[in-house]
Amino acid sequence: MKATVYEEFGGPEVLHGGEIEAPHPGPGQIRVQVKAAGVNPMDWKIRHGWMQQMMKTEFPAVPGLEVAGVVDELGEGVGDFAVGDEVVGWGTAAYAEHALMTIAAKKPAGVSWNEAVAVPVAGETARRVLGELGLRSGETLLVLGAAGAVGSVAVQLAVALGATVVGTASEANHAYVRELGGTPVAYGKGQVERVRAAAPQGVDAVLDTAGKGDLPDAIEVRGGTTDRVVTIADMDAQKLGVPFSAGGTSKEQQRSDLAANLELAAGGALRLRVARTYGLDEAADAHRESEAGHARGKLVIVP
Ligand SMILES: NC(=O)c1ccc[n+]([C@@H]2O[C@H](COP(=O)([O-])OP(=O)(O)OC[C@H]3O[C@@H](n4cnc5c(N)ncnc54)[C@H](OP(=O)(O)O)[C@@H]3O)[C@@H](O)[C@H]2O)c1
Repeated sequence: MKATVYEEFGGPEVLHGGEIEAPHPGPGQIRVQVKAAGVNPMDWKIRHGWMQQMMKTEFPAVPGLEVAGVVDELGEGVGDFAVGDEVVGWGTAAYAEHALMTIAAKKPAGVSWNEAVAVPVAGETARRVLGELGLRSGETLLVLGAAGAVGSVAVQLAVALGATVVGTASEANHAYVRELGGTPVAYGKGQVERVRAAAPQGVDAVLDTAGKGDLPDAIEVRGGTTDRVVTIADMDAQKLGVPFSAGGTSKEQQRSDLAANLELAAGGALRLRVARTYGLDEAADAHRESEAGHARGKLVIVP
């Protein structure tokens, strides 16, 4: 089958189109014919070799942890899915014509493949972190990186919860943040004053999705405390005493969060923006775009 392959760690140029053996599902696993694979920053962090301590990469490697497709093979003992089901969730080696899935939910008919594949990682992360922040109705949340894949879902879930949301974004994304129900402010120098002007009532919690060195500003906005500040991306978190949320949610919780997020997407209450699609032999360009950090929506690999 066709896939995106790499044989060594490095820049986006190590990725190329290739032919590999199609995988077959083991007990409890399902295989899909891939319709869409999500591009996540984690994919290029792994490709650089930065995640070796967390997950070992074996070569030749195929990127991709997020997948949507049609079930085409069932492992022993699978009872909740049938061949032909349209599903979305977490998988392995997803930039390929066929991939094995680890956690799946049925894709609602009204949600496109490309929108569906934007849901698993961003949706799980946003729900988990809002839970960790203990955000409640009537409170004010600051989202750093509000127009990104995780940020945009967090804004919508927080607004649905009854919170007021202020979100940092580049100028080009301000209208988008407004559409999602948040108040946009520009990031960079002077952002503390801009956030205070946008939220004179004060900020009760901060979610940093960007990881671009804004935690000292987040602490300042919180009145000098790290209480109710969480990052998912800033490696200085520990030094500053800010919790780094890195997952650890159970499979059952991930599955139920995914189903809940897909239901919201089907009802139009969760909007997913797709920036661009790429073929299996164009994955290097998708990674360049993702690494640049300003993709205007989800980047999707379509085999
Ligand atoms: N720990 C976890 O569980 C977990 C889970 C998922 C993702 N992550 C990590 O979270 C990060 C974001 O993931 P994502 O998929 O949401 O990425 P993404 O879609 O590429 O979004 C990145 C965001 O960062 C913003 N940004 C870029 N430069 C900035 C700056 N200097 N200051 C403030 N914001 C800036 C961008 O805003 P503009 O486009 O408006 O410029 C964009 O909204 C990645 O590092 C990823 O690996 C962690």
